[in-house]
Amino acid sequence: MCGIFAYLNYLTPKKRAEILELLVNGLKRLEYRGYDSAGVAVDTADDKDIAIIKKAGKVALLEEEIKNRSSELNMDGSTDIHCGIAHTRWATHGVPNEVNCHPLRSDPHNGFVLVHNGIITNYKEVKVFLEKKGYKFESETDTEVIVKLIHHFYQKHPSYSFRELVESVVQQLEGAFALCFKSKFFPGECVATRRGSPLLVGIKTATRLATDHIPILYSKEDHPTSPINKDADSNSEHRPYGRADYPTLPRTGSTSEFEPLEDKQVEYFFASDASAIIEHTNRVIYFEDDDVAAVKNGSLSIHRIRRGGDDPHKREITTLKMELQQIMKGNYDFFMQKEIFEQPDSVINTMRGRVNFETGNVVLGGIKDYIPEIKRCRRLMLIGCGTSYHSAIATRQLLEELTELPVMVELASDFLDRTTPVFRDDVCFFISQSGETADTLMALRYCKERGALIVGITNTVGSSICRESHCGVHINAGPEIGVASTKAYTSQFISLVMFALVMSEDRLSLRKRREDIINGLRNLQDQIRQVLKLDDKVKVLAGDLYKKKSLLIMGRGFNFATCLEGALKVKELTYMHSEGIMAGELKHGPLALIDEAMPVMMIIMRDPVYVKCMNALQQVTARDGKPIIICEEGDKETLAYGYKTLEIPKTVDCLQGILTVIPMQLLSFHIAVLKGCNVDCPRNLAKSVTVE
Ligand code: G6P
Repeated sequence: MCGIFAYLNYLTPKKRAEILELLVNGLKRLEYRGYDSAGVAVDTADDKDIAIIKKAGKVALLEEEIKNRSSELNMDGSTDIHCGIAHTRWATHGVPNEVNCHPLRSDPHNGFVLVHNGIITNYKEVKVFLEKKGYKFESETDTEVIVKLIHHFYQKHPSYSFRELVESVVQQLEGAFALCFKSKFFPGECVATRRGSPLLVGIKTATRLATDHIPILYSKEDHPTSPINKDADSNSEHRPYGRADYPTLPRTGSTSEFEPLEDKQVEYFFASDASAIIEHTNRVIYFEDDDVAAVKNGSLSIHRIRRGGDDPHKREITTLKMELQQIMKGNYDFFMQKEIFEQPDSVINTMRGRVNFETGNVVLGGIKDYIPEIKRCRRLMLIGCGTSYHSAIATRQLLEELTELPVMVELASDFLDRTTPVFRDDVCFFISQSGETADTLMALRYCKERGALIVGITNTVGSSICRESHCGVHINAGPEIGVASTKAYTSQFISLVMFALVMSEDRLSLRKRREDIINGLRNLQDQIRQVLKLDDKVKVLAGDLYKKKSLLIMGRGFNFATCLEGALKVKELTYMHSEGIMAGELKHGPLALIDEAMPVMMIIMRDPVYVKCMNALQQVTARDGKPIIICEEGDKETLAYGYKTLEIPKTVDCLQGILTVIPMQLLSFHIAVLKGCNVDCPRNLAKSVTVE
């Protein structure tokens, strides 16, 4: 997904080479989001114009191009006040080439330049409007209308400030966006805004900031802009959602007044996510939808068009707890590999301070005040996409068992397509590693409008889903950089198990069951370490499989989610066809696929569906299938079949899926390496899908 990075230095001397290096490094930190071209815009050597450097392909190629143009860019020249913007583009409108790559420009003289993350849905109407005004479009992007529109407003209202121009523009836009503008008419200034796509700013000052928040200023409602859409300002109605941070969020607390940072050395870093900022500063502000943030004379102000009901009238400066080390590869060759091997620790981090193994008490600080309300609800709905959706499938059975409530599990996109009925007494869980997935966020807003209680299960503090939820659980898995989700899955799984435990704490009849599960959680770390020792064995299996065209993964009950998640991992990483099959459905179709050549994996644990799984095994072997079996350690009956096996330590049935999924993560990883695929950034995929 597109990544935005912008850097503004005020009264802080920097060489151009340093500025460009900073911009390129910012982009490198965002590479994991997935992209297919990259670009930067900086002032020209004489400070009178803007130079745009763009390249299709990787950031490394952009870096090369910058080197090639170093004499023109006057790399040794120093500047005290400068604004540079940069972007990694994940193509949606138009192929990934240099013309479509951002920054996009307003005119051949580069009056305004812009980077954009998101999709403008009314771009065709705006384009027609601008074409009538004589604008000529050079790219196929939706973004170009925005940068041309600001140019149009600038010509029409020459007295407007940069911020007022941006406000005029966003009132005309429909869709989702985070935008960062630079202009040669407003040197040393930067204006950024968001609606639906993530954006934050990091602030670095020589001395500690005198304030812990920035007050919101309210702009005049309507600048007299030309109405492009019939209902021209309907977008400014866009409701600022409540800032219901999870109560567990670390927050700074001072109420001192905002002190402008004018005439002081200051650096600002705008970015799509914190991983691009953390090496420079840990002091950040997460913007809300419809905030327009402007830096002028080194001072940051945040404006909104209209007052919202539950808007707190200030944006707090948050101190990030993330360390740079957490987002580096360490001794591993790939982020995904590192993240798989981090799971013994990430699962502990998810449970830390929440599960008391001595007393059997489980407390989820972020939802504890809402538990009585949740216990009175009509049903639970678990909503997510991709891997996050699979974590809901993995825990549904336990949630039904321990809460005795109906549990619906929904893919966010399908849920919205169906305009599913939602009621005030529903409790809706939104599960998302990034907390920014557009479909999940839209589903959240849909349920919130209908009065349901919204619970966020996210890995990203400060993300949109986390902010817009009434309450929630941070899964605390640490930054996940590899596009294919691994440690976030096991931590989401555990978060939902902990929720089920909280819901059943006063049920005497469930006491033994709860004890078994808590014991299982206590042993997870060691057992995951044990499973990871299978790595070499899995690598050998990958050698047998990597030239095959397809892989079927079968199982049922508590391990069905592992089949779906395993197949998703194989597809994402290796581009090989793979399908997770409910073993109970074999006779209804999938058996037709089985012969001696079809690669099959089966997950057979000694749990309540063991006999049924053995039955499925016989159905497969009777048709000459030669499955690789993931089975329970020492299960003689299964081992007696003599097929290739991966033996997994036994845990309580409802947690077994945490252990069985790990060999599937390792297998997909090794197949991808053997096939020479890009492990951390599979083709056509993005880490954070912020468009519908
Ligand atoms: C993308 C990623 C998947 C992820 C899904 C949902 O498709 O490639 O790995 O599972 O989005 O993302 P979320 O951040 O909402 O969990």
